Amino acid sequence: MKRKLIAANWKMNLVKKDSAELARSIVRGLVSPLDCDVVLIPAMTSLDAVWQEIKETELELGAQNVFWEDSGAYTGEVSPAMLIDSGCRWVIIGHSERRQILGETDEYINRKVLRSVQAGLNVILCIGETRDERRGGQYTEVINSQLNSALSGFDQELIKRLAVAYEPVWAIGTGENAEPDQIYESHNVIIKNLIAQFGKDAHNIRILYGGSVKQDNIEVIININNVDGALVGGASLDHISFIKIVKISGV
Ligand code: PGA
Repeated sequence: MKRKLIAANWKMNLVKKDSAELARSIVRGLVSPLDCDVVLIPAMTSLDAVWQEIKETELELGAQNVFWEDSGAYTGEVSPAMLIDSGCRWVIIGHSERRQILGETDEYINRKVLRSVQAGLNVILCIGETRDERRGGQYTEVINSQLNSALSGFDQELIKRLAVAYEPVWAIGTGENAEPDQIYESHNVIIKNLIAQFGKDAHNIRILYGGSVKQDNIEVIININNVDGALVGGASLDHISFIKIVKISGV
C-alpha cells in the first residue's frame, strides 16, 4: 500500500505570524514518526515563516504556484529553484481557482508541471470537472483531457515526483464533498489514464481527493480504493481538524 499524503492548502489566508502559529500548533499535535506524509502549503509570503517551524520535523513545505522559467523578466513570478531555495519540496499546479480566476490554460499547466519536476520539485497536479460538466456526464472526458494535456511530454522517470489531486470544482469550498462512488469512479478513470500513459509504474503515483474534506468525512474518503491522500483547504486552517484528518489518514 502507498503511504498516504495529506496536503494543507491554506490558499490566500494568514499573514506570517498566523501561518507560523498554525504550523507550530500542527507540529505540536502530531506525534513522530508520522504514519503519512504531511505537506503544509501556505501563501508565498509565509513560506519562510512556516519553514522555520517545520524544517527540523518530518513535515514538508509546498507552494501554491510556480512559473516555468528559472529566472528573468517575469514580473511577479517565482521559479522552481526559488521555491526549492525557500525549503519547498512540493508545489500545487493546476488548481481550479487558478484555472478559473487567473485564466491558467492547459498549456501553462503543462509547462509548469514539466519544469517543476525537472527542477526536482514534487508536483500536486489538480484536475476536476465543473458542476455543469458533472451534470452533463462529461467528467470522464474532462479528467482525461486535463491529464493528457498536463502530462504531455512527461518523462517516465519523472513520475516519481508526481501526485494527482482529483478536485471536482463543485466540491471545493462548498461543504459538499463528492459521494464515495463518484470519488471511486473518478479515481478509477485517473489510474486507468495514468497506466495508459506510463505503464505499471503509474501505480506508484498517489491520487489525492480534494473538495470539502473534513474530519467527519475523511475516514470514508481515505478508505476508497485508489484514494492515496487528500488535499485539504478550509479544514486545514484549523489545527485541531487538520491534525484529526492526518491521524485518521495514517491509520
Ligand atoms: P476545500 O478546498 O477543502 O476548502 O474544499 C480544497 C482545495 O481547494 O484544495
